[in-house]
Amino acid sequence: MLTERFQAPPLAFVHTYGCQGNVADSERIKGMLREMGYAFTEDREEADLVLFNTCAVREHAEDRVFGNVGALKPVKERRRHMIVALCGCMMQQPRVSERIRKSYPFVNLVFGTFAVHRFPEMLYRVLTRGKRVFETGETDAAVAEGIPVYRDSSFKAWLPVMYGCNNFCTYCIVPYVRGRERSRAPEAVLGEAREIVAGGAKEITLLGQNVNSYGRGFADGADFASLLRQINAIPGDFKIRFMTSHPKDCTKELLDTMAACEKVCRHLHLPVQSGSDRVLRAMNRGYTRERYLSLIGYARRVMPDLSLTTDVIVGFPGETEDEFRETLSLVKEVRYTSLFTFIFSPREGTAAAKMADPVSYAEKSARFSELLKTQEAIASARCREMVGRTFEVLTEDETKEKNGMLTGRTDGNVNIDFPGPAELIGTRRRVKVTEAGNWVLRGTLAD
Ligand code: SAM
Ligand code: SF4
Ligand code: F3S
Repeated sequence: MLTERFQAPPLAFVHTYGCQGNVADSERIKGMLREMGYAFTEDREEADLVLFNTCAVREHAEDRVFGNVGALKPVKERRRHMIVALCGCMMQQPRVSERIRKSYPFVNLVFGTFAVHRFPEMLYRVLTRGKRVFETGETDAAVAEGIPVYRDSSFKAWLPVMYGCNNFCTYCIVPYVRGRERSRAPEAVLGEAREIVAGGAKEITLLGQNVNSYGRGFADGADFASLLRQINAIPGDFKIRFMTSHPKDCTKELLDTMAACEKVCRHLHLPVQSGSDRVLRAMNRGYTRERYLSLIGYARRVMPDLSLTTDVIVGFPGETEDEFRETLSLVKEVRYTSLFTFIFSPREGTAAAKMADPVSYAEKSARFSELLKTQEAIASARCREMVGRTFEVLTEDETKEKNGMLTGRTDGNVNIDFPGPAELIGTRRRVKVTEAGNWVLRGTLAD
């Protein structure tokens, strides 16, 4: 038995890579671990179980995981009873699970995104039989409900409303590793939302790769707008966020619903990816620049204080200099609050990985830097426009320097630092912006 040398309670170290969908999965894995009697540690050297929940979206994400798994080998040699488990999107790729099987023999348990709810049974097999367990098959099974959740924060909660993706953007691995779209029943989502609010959370973020297609195929016609309205109607002092919204399915009805729901933050993350119609077509995004801009125009008409953020990919195969300039001009036209920017990373098995890609990496990096510089100028101008105004923020933490300063986030997803005692963490406060630095806004408590 591998359990002989476990401490009481046994300690688990769980590390999550990737998006909030993965964070939400890890909170369920931790919920199951806690039910099995585990406590948690931040120190992998003292853990009885180390689990990495992995991300496959870009090559860089995968390289980091392989590096960190390799670094566990000497730890495992010192602590032979330690269980090493790997799960998440990377493990859903046969190329990766084979590499783990052959080159990382000290890994005890490997499971993919479809097997999360079966974690206790798989762990039991590892512990009692002492053999390696690999469960990486794809089953587009019904959504598993009733899994215990161990939430990392007491005041911010992730709430998955759907899993998977049907869009097959040509660059993206997600549909291959997360399977087809499955929506949770509205009663299950609402039940969890009520539990979260009863637990005192001040912010709920609804999660899905494309929340706008929530409920597609439901017989009763429930959709994301109706779900938002129902969560908004739950009594309590909390705010609602959601991500990600796909421009192809973002309707005026959804924007009107946002505008009508007082608990929904005035923040829309609407990934554009590129400002060029030819590139958008090659990406299979399903909208044009014009349609995207008209959506943004409508959203700003119905919510004048709306904060917009987006994702941009630079250097998609065959992207010309002129096409990149179209992305730059779109970014300047929209004036986003912030951008999440990526250099195209070919993912095996996707259509874009097979496309001719004549532009050098150096050229792509130069475009990437130019995009960052453009956004920096926009963001700092926007920050200066906020000086003198008062915003409500959710106080999230002390600043890294721990110099008596706290950091809070506005509904529009902008951070403001202000002096205050640590007891304010987890509360909503009004803060007046007094100063705009290059990267950060500073302010003082206004109540
Ligand atoms: N479902 C969301 C959507 O459609 O906007 C995004 C999900 S994806 C996990 C997050 C972002 O990663 C994407 O919006 C895209 O900008 C970026 N991304 C995905 N695949 C990529 C790739 N192969 N190379 C570079 N960036 C990529
Ligand atoms: Fe990937 Fe596109 Fe699905 Fe988003 S919508 S997860 S980018 S395939
Ligand atoms: Fe990564 Fe999987 Fe999310 S590939 S970005 S963790 S859905």
